[in-house]
Amino acid sequence: MNVLITGGNRGLGLGFVQHYLGTGHDVWAGHRADIGGLADIKHSGLHLLQWDVGEDDEPLGELPEHIDLLINCAGIYGPGKDGQELDKVRPAVMQDVFNVDCIGPLRVVQRLHKRMVRGGVIANLSSKMGSSGDNSSGGTYAYRAAKAALVIVSKSMAVDLAPASVHVITLHPGWVRTDMTHQTGLIDVEDSVSGMADVIERARDYAPGAFIAFDGQEIPY
Ligand SMILES: NC(=O)c1ccc[n+]([C@@H]2O[C@H](COP(=O)([O-])OP(=O)(O)OC[C@H]3O[C@@H](n4cnc5c(N)ncnc54)[C@H](OP(=O)(O)O)[C@@H]3O)[C@@H](O)[C@H]2O)c1
Repeated sequence: MNVLITGGNRGLGLGFVQHYLGTGHDVWAGHRADIGGLADIKHSGLHLLQWDVGEDDEPLGELPEHIDLLINCAGIYGPGKDGQELDKVRPAVMQDVFNVDCIGPLRVVQRLHKRMVRGGVIANLSSKMGSSGDNSSGGTYAYRAAKAALVIVSKSMAVDLAPASVHVITLHPGWVRTDMTHQTGLIDVEDSVSGMADVIERARDYAPGAFIAFDGQEIPY
């Protein structure tokens, strides 16, 4: 399989890169300036792809001609919880997080969907924080809004790409020990990635655009 993963240089993205290389696939790993943990991987199946998903019309290196699996993993949280409170969150923060977390995956899919094989899968990483049904604590305006919008964008992609036999799902990785959570999550990257990879493997058991956690549970949104 040819697998393309954005934000592949650290955290969950790097975990996905290691998982799919380890299971014998060719991986195009997206990164911005810093290649991070990708520098330590010596594998002939690894292809580096510089791609800032927050920018329009990024000049890109060599892309795979055909893509079997596209994982939109790159994302930002924005300022810490305090900076996203009702009286503190600024319009520019709302826009910055939306630009990367929602428009980013849209940009990527606009550039790549014609390369997806029939039977291919696109997995967009949202967060349970973007589920309005799960929101009982309020706050975190920018991240919640951007991740909620991604679920909706992902559903439209699922409908629009179904005729091309490309299945689009949205994932929640759990609360994972990465830089984003300051390593305070409940589970390790390996457990989250192996759970999400199982869900991806069984993606067609779920409806197009379904929102699914790493443990296979569907998330209402
Ligand atoms: N960790 C969790 O508990 C959790 C929970 C729910 C959802 N998620 C989602 O899962 C995804 C991965 O999270 P993580 O925990 O692995 O986060 P992370 O450790 O903070 O890593 C974020 C990754 O996204 C990349 N990135 C950020 N902005 C980018 C841009 N404009 N263009 C390209 N790459 C960009 C980063 O690259 P740089 O190194 O260049 O910054 C890095 O590779 C995110 O979408 C996140 O919202 C995570």
